Amino acid sequence: MKIRENYNLQSYNTFGIPANATYFVEAHSEEELRQAFQLNIQPLLILGGGSNLLLTKDFNGLVIKNAVAGKEIIKESKEYIIVRAGAGENWHSFVIWCLENNLGGIENLSLIPGTVGAAPIQNIGAYGVEIKDVFHHLEAMHIATGEIHTFSKEDCKFGYRDSIFKQKLKGQYCITQVYLQLNKSDYHDINISYGAIRDTLKAMNIEHPTIHDVSNAVITIRSSKLPDPAKIGNSGSFFKNPEIPFTQFEILQQNFPNIISFPGSDGNIKIPAGWLIEQCGWKGYRRGDAGCYEKQALVLVNYGKATGAEIWQLAKDIADSVEVKFGIRLSAEVNVM
Ligand code: EPU
Repeated sequence: MKIRENYNLQSYNTFGIPANATYFVEAHSEEELRQAFQLNIQPLLILGGGSNLLLTKDFNGLVIKNAVAGKEIIKESKEYIIVRAGAGENWHSFVIWCLENNLGGIENLSLIPGTVGAAPIQNIGAYGVEIKDVFHHLEAMHIATGEIHTFSKEDCKFGYRDSIFKQKLKGQYCITQVYLQLNKSDYHDINISYGAIRDTLKAMNIEHPTIHDVSNAVITIRSSKLPDPAKIGNSGSFFKNPEIPFTQFEILQQNFPNIISFPGSDGNIKIPAGWLIEQCGWKGYRRGDAGCYEKQALVLVNYGKATGAEIWQLAKDIADSVEVKFGIRLSAEVNVM
């Protein structure tokens, strides 16, 4: 395992920010991860695909790129299959591999950037499905001892873009293997609850969609709204969609009759942050090379040479203006370092 010094992370984060790591290693196995942790260099940053990360400065510590690979079918019954994937596998390639094996359940999560190991940390979700819906269990290395521990779905305490690994166990574990329980049929219980998917399938003239059709529809929708990080640096949704109490929503609705809302958790109301940001006039705004994407206001972009600090300043200005206009404080979905 090679330890690199003063290593440029530009190609390791989808915002394309050229920040340096004092030390950098790429770990391809559990054993290499253990060796990296034993170096005992603090602070520590474990990188997956770098697709949920904004680097606002150099990282004066050790960055470990988790590159544990492998995908396999572990167990098969009449109705379902358990598959295992190494944390370093690319998420979308894994989705495609599942589709090639006619395994359904994650087709709605097609084209999400990042790695398999990062997916449960923030319980990735899109178009009516979250990873928690198909999650079986995972294995993670306890950083302090190097031991591998198993976490059931319950142990992970999944929430909206949330899990125990962002809360109580933050910084304590490194996910190594993820196990999902998937369906075996082409026509399994697909989820087309999301209007955009139904509209896209209709435009494709598909009446009885398979998991492959749903995946293609999702890829079409995402490609039309979200910038490709290979072309324009970005990290997907920059903020979480905020949830507010119903009473607060009723007052807002009087002042803003066109407000868009969805049912949230515990009786709260979820408001799309993209709508709030657009209402404040930021959609398509550009300051130097930092911008608010013209087709989806929730996505902040790096048009080329923006620094992480510039993007973070823009994010704070956006959040401030949303707070002034709507009395709602947006919180970042991406990890700001
Ligand atoms: N909207 C606007 N203006 C905008 C953007 C959105 O008015 O500029 C409105 C839309 O018209 C729509 C509503 O906001 O009525 C929701 O928009 P959209 O369906 O695009 O989804 P989102 O809430 O902005 C969330 C996830 C995405 C996921 C999509 C689809 C979060 C933070 N984001 O976005 O996830 O792909 O739903 O399920 O929950 C990500 O996490 O990085 C991500 C891309």
